[in-house]
Amino acid sequence: MELIITSDYASMNRKAADTISATIKEKPNCVLGLATGSTPVGTYKELVKRNQQHQIDFSQVITFNLDEYIGIGIDLSKPYSQDQSYARFMHEQLFSHINIKRENIHMPDGTAENLEKHCSDYEQKIKQMKGIDLQLLGIGANGHIAFNEPGSSLASRTRIQPLDPKTLNDNYEKFYKKAGIKKEDMPHYAFTMGVGTILESRHALLLGSGKNKAKAVAEAIEGPVTSKITASALQLHPGQVTIILDQPAASELTWSLKLVRENLA
Ligand code: F6R
Repeated sequence: MELIITSDYASMNRKAADTISATIKEKPNCVLGLATGSTPVGTYKELVKRNQQHQIDFSQVITFNLDEYIGIGIDLSKPYSQDQSYARFMHEQLFSHINIKRENIHMPDGTAENLEKHCSDYEQKIKQMKGIDLQLLGIGANGHIAFNEPGSSLASRTRIQPLDPKTLNDNYEKFYKKAGIKKEDMPHYAFTMGVGTILESRHALLLGSGKNKAKAVAEAIEGPVTSKITASALQLHPGQVTIILDQPAASELTWSLKLVRENLA
């Protein structure tokens, strides 16, 4: 596990974009797993900039998003709707600004009729593409990765998951409130890649920003592996794991922070 502590949010995003760009340069038709939420917004801006300056090429890149709320979604062939779907978020933040092919974008559909089949088909598609080369992840204040809420099996696969009250609250404050949507009207369930699915990615890249993530980050990196903090499962990842934090998110690390400081000294 490689731990990188950056001075602020902007440098965290530059580092994350460096890692993603390196993957694309090494393997132009790589499979990227992507996350939504406030954390990767700056990373996506950086990738858009690099793509527009012809430093990276998305024309062969294949993507799979981690999760989506149940009950909402967009038809990618139609103009973007004003919903709070992660599909809309991805189009606004990344896809509509880069030279990616629409047929190479895979987003879960929160409105799928047969959700169980949709979950297994999604896993199947990832397998058909020979797995995920680089999986970008954020971390919830409750320690979740994707929507693998506390108590999720560390071997879990792609499935429908009820949202934890903490997640509902955090995402309401960050996204739904601004859109004028009542808390009781926001989706309470989500489609999520499982922890087991995420652990099969060849390289996992976890980003953490802000003081409100510090406790979860410290528990994930330095605590025991536990389903209470599903990000802690990354300690069991058999491939490469890179964690990039800004200073506030790293502020509750103890021994690993000491190690980083000693290495820098
Ligand atoms: C979103 C996702 C979630 C978020 C996490 C942090 O696709 O997988 O696990 O990464 O909830 O969200 P933010 O970045 O909004 O703090």
